[in-house]
Amino acid sequence: MSEATIRYGDREVKLPVIKGSETESGVDISRLAAETGLFTLDRGFGNTAESESSVSFIDGEAGILRYRGYPIEQLAQQATFLEVAYLLLYGELPNRHELDAFTGSVTRHTLLREDMKHLFEAFPHNAHPMQILASATSALATYYPDALDPRDPKSVEVSCRRLLAKMPTMIAWLYKYRVHQPYIYPHNDLDYPSNFLYMVHSLPTEEYIPDPVVVAALNVLLILHADHGQNCSATAVKLVGSGEANIFSSVAAGVLALSGPRHGGANQEVLEMLETMEAAGGDVSYFIERAKDRSDPFRLMGFGHRIYKNFDPRAQIIKRAAEDVLAKLGIDDPLLNIAFELERVALSDDYFIERRLYPNVDFYSGIIYRALGFPTDMFTVLFALGRLPGWLAQWKEGAEDPHTRIFRPQQVYVGPTARDFVPISQRP
Ligand code: CMC
Repeated sequence: MSEATIRYGDREVKLPVIKGSETESGVDISRLAAETGLFTLDRGFGNTAESESSVSFIDGEAGILRYRGYPIEQLAQQATFLEVAYLLLYGELPNRHELDAFTGSVTRHTLLREDMKHLFEAFPHNAHPMQILASATSALATYYPDALDPRDPKSVEVSCRRLLAKMPTMIAWLYKYRVHQPYIYPHNDLDYPSNFLYMVHSLPTEEYIPDPVVVAALNVLLILHADHGQNCSATAVKLVGSGEANIFSSVAAGVLALSGPRHGGANQEVLEMLETMEAAGGDVSYFIERAKDRSDPFRLMGFGHRIYKNFDPRAQIIKRAAEDVLAKLGIDDPLLNIAFELERVALSDDYFIERRLYPNVDFYSGIIYRALGFPTDMFTVLFALGRLPGWLAQWKEGAEDPHTRIFRPQQVYVGPTARDFVPISQRP
């Protein structure tokens, strides 16, 4: 085993270096504070792994993303979303029998308890879908109190399937509520993405039969979003889970973490940014200049990534898929051309080149969601639907790991040192 040595003053400590199965190695600093009195300060956890994980591997320099060893490109092209969900949850691709059993069980959990309708109806019609989804996800726990024990594998198993099954229904129903339309019940003869589209777009008066092009595009998008290592929302899910909160509460925390514009909320912001550019006549240079101005908080949404520094492999697949879907559906979306132009200008600009800022997964996904008939503020819940298997797999990994401890980071206290209380009558 290799070691790293840390010297501080007259103390020296040798720390084990843990090697991953790919290219990564990490210094295990668990004994650092006990042996030196020091801990580490690592803003945004850019240098810190909280745990070992075997769910997905990312090489940011090479633009590689693999789920359980399988390249994202192959999965996007050849797998179904539920097949990928199985892979993420159980570590191996299912055989035909396993997939049928898994699909059958997920399909049979798609209904929501009837009284959950009142939950959606308690929100204003213009409430943001991510807020409603987080509340509904958390509320699910109240319907299944007998299966919440995070240490009971059977409860965890059924909860994972309930979440996978009910998330599309919750999203479709919160959408229906927001657009003042009747709820549409799941249709168990349909596959996962078709059933979701059916619940979103059907009316009691008119059944929506999803176009295979649309189903295939949604399947790819869901797969591409299914996991992404220790991102902000997965970390939130694991953090809440580390306190042995139930899996519904943990996933609800993930939904809320995902809602932020620097994370999943960026897909909505990209589309709104492209719409603003279109309204301004399609000239992207003004926005590029604003993004480069450090005194202006504006950022080019859908650009940049903490890990990917050459390209985001998901963005490349989604870009091709956007062109393909729009062509097959016969849609000429001016926003796609603005996105192409924005990418071209940004990628030839020194500011973006020096900082290694490239289009990320959120840059082109909204253009496809729009083509599939989703309003802009629904984009982030679609990201959440895709990311769910990754959250579940990582939560399970944490719950099953005997080394898991409650997440409890240190802090470097920089506030006032000890001082005596001053009665209010004596304060200036
Ligand atoms: N537009 C303009 N400048 C940017 C951008 C951007 N989109 N992203 C980063 N920068 C600049 C940033 O100002 C900083 O410049 P300087 O060195 O002069 O201070 C430098 O690049 C490094 O940025 P950072 O914020 O330190 O990088 P980070 O790794 O902490 O942040 C990020 C990564 C994704 C939050 C950031 O690139 C960003 O805010 N992008 C826009 C939002 C976005 O598209 N988010 C989706 C991310 S991918 C999917 C997901 O995770 O949900």
